[in-house]
Amino acid sequence: MNSKRKLIYEGKAKILYEGPEPGTLIQYFKDDATAFNGEKKAQLEGKGVINNRISEFVMTRLNQIGITNHFIKRLNLREQLIREVEIVPLEVVVRNVAAGSIAKRLGLEEGTPLPRSIIEFYYKKDELNDPMVSEEHITAFNWATTQEMDEMLATAIRVNDFLCGMFSAVGITLVDFKIEFGRIYENDFSRVILADEISPDSCRLWDTATGEKLDKDRFRRDMGNVIESYTEVARRLGIMKDMPTVIQGGLH
Ligand SMILES: Nc1ncnc2c1ncn2[C@@H]1O[C@H](COP(=O)(O)OP(=O)(O)OP(=O)(O)O)[C@@H](O)[C@H]1O
Ligand SMILES: [Mg+2]
Repeated sequence: MNSKRKLIYEGKAKILYEGPEPGTLIQYFKDDATAFNGEKKAQLEGKGVINNRISEFVMTRLNQIGITNHFIKRLNLREQLIREVEIVPLEVVVRNVAAGSIAKRLGLEEGTPLPRSIIEFYYKKDELNDPMVSEEHITAFNWATTQEMDEMLATAIRVNDFLCGMFSAVGITLVDFKIEFGRIYENDFSRVILADEISPDSCRLWDTATGEKLDKDRFRRDMGNVIESYTEVARRLGIMKDMPTVIQGGLH
């Protein structure tokens, strides 16, 4: 890490530094794992390296199919250059199978396929534990405009379709995932693009054949083998071969 670099924001899983050019940032992936709004904490050696790669891989592919996002290029093991955006204070969750909070809230058994993909919005506010909100709340409080909502919904569906196919091809079921969006300003216009990260920290990924969890639930639920599972996701996506041998060797 370059200590002369200006720190912009330190979050639970990542750090943002000022980028080399205006409108860019450097996103550094930490090994810190947190759950339950930071109540549970641990260091998972190598997580940052794997998530940096997985997010790079996914964002690059999304870019290729025309889903604009903040990713510019990977800089090193833990860092990627991204476009700076004005984050929309929402977590957009897409669900295909009941798990986590929806299973609890609606009394569904985990693993029940949903009748169709369901999109939910959560207001990003740690003090309030990121409460679920509706489109009414979002537009009334100006967290996003109706037009931005339409853009985010349409993009979320496209991301889901693409990721479902990408993971199913390697024997993984995409149960659900969380994405974030941010505004970029071009002349007098602004539009929202996909930002943050897509990784096993932000997705529920189950081995299709065995049902084994390959995501952050292993950490949340103390199931062990967290890094091994993240590594398995990377391996299936074909990105382990680009990983440094020290990580490959150390994580098997
Ligand atoms: N392209 C981007 N431009 C500006 N901010 C971004 C961009 N992509 C992601 N972010 C923000 O950077 C931060 C990433 O750090 P991290 O994910 O560790 O945060 P966090 O602890 O989850 O907290 P938060 O509640 O702020 O998301 C998040 O606040 C995220 O919204
Ligand atoms: Mg975050």
